Amino acid sequence: MNSEKYHMDPTVRNLWQLEDLAKEHAVPEVVQKQIKRCLHSFLARDEYCENMSSPASQGVRYIMEQTSCHPWSKLSKEGTIPFMHPMMVSGKLEGNFLKTLVSMSNSKKVLEVGLFTGCGALTIAEALPVDGTVVSCEILPYIQDLARSYLDQSPHGKKVIIRGGPALETMRKLARDGEQFDIIFLDANKDDYLSYFKIIMDNNMLSPRGTILIDNALFQGSPYLRDEMKFGQTTHEFNEFISKNQDLYQVLVPIRDGLLMIRRNEDVEGAI
Ligand SMILES: C[S@@+](CC[C@H](N)C(=O)[O-])C[C@H]1O[C@@H](n2cnc3c(N)ncnc32)[C@H](O)[C@@H]1O
Repeated sequence: MNSEKYHMDPTVRNLWQLEDLAKEHAVPEVVQKQIKRCLHSFLARDEYCENMSSPASQGVRYIMEQTSCHPWSKLSKEGTIPFMHPMMVSGKLEGNFLKTLVSMSNSKKVLEVGLFTGCGALTIAEALPVDGTVVSCEILPYIQDLARSYLDQSPHGKKVIIRGGPALETMRKLARDGEQFDIIFLDANKDDYLSYFKIIMDNNMLSPRGTILIDNALFQGSPYLRDEMKFGQTTHEFNEFISKNQDLYQVLVPIRDGLLMIRRNEDVEGAI
């Protein structure tokens, strides 16, 4: 498979491999065409969803453009930062989804765990009222400065408060200060998701009627493709832990790399 091609969905990755194999083994043209059709129907759906969704704002587009041309490989080779990839941004479709959720819930305070270049934080900030805030945790000083410089290009950027350091420490501090959030978006170190979740619940950090959003809940297919599960074990364990909790209501939405939405049962079930 061409190493430049990458997709988060394993179906697409497997079809690309099948396409290469079919060529290599001179499989009849009619089969090769059908493989192409399958691939196209899958990729065209993503593209159609993006095209039929509202455009990202100028500020968010600017961050996406800057992120995609930033010299990530060079910086990681030099040792300035660990390996990072432009695909780490939440992107347009998931961004529109987040913005819709934030505006629907009339949220005022949002916690984002994992800032990267500020794409998600700015998208959320754009849906907040003038006195709304997004507190965003980021471990890497280089990334904190880069994101700040991008966020400052937008009038909504001032609603984003960057908290440096490991998210677990920042969250414990926020909990000690009695902070509560209407939406909490977890998008940092996947192995820490359970610890993040426990800090939130044990310290009542989720506002009444609040929602927790967990990004990468499908972790590139690993949690459900057990035979290919190399790095998705903790994600699967976390998803299962949540699904067994009788006090919570959850839905795993297959948008981008999977978004698990969690609410308290009492906030979802209607009265009789
Ligand atoms: C997937 S990116 C976040 C993308 C961002 N939420 C968006 O929507 O564009 C994950 C970020 O979390 C940061 N991160 C990873 N481990 C962390 C930790 N333990 N504490 C704080 N930030 C962390 C990484 O440096 C990276 O910038």
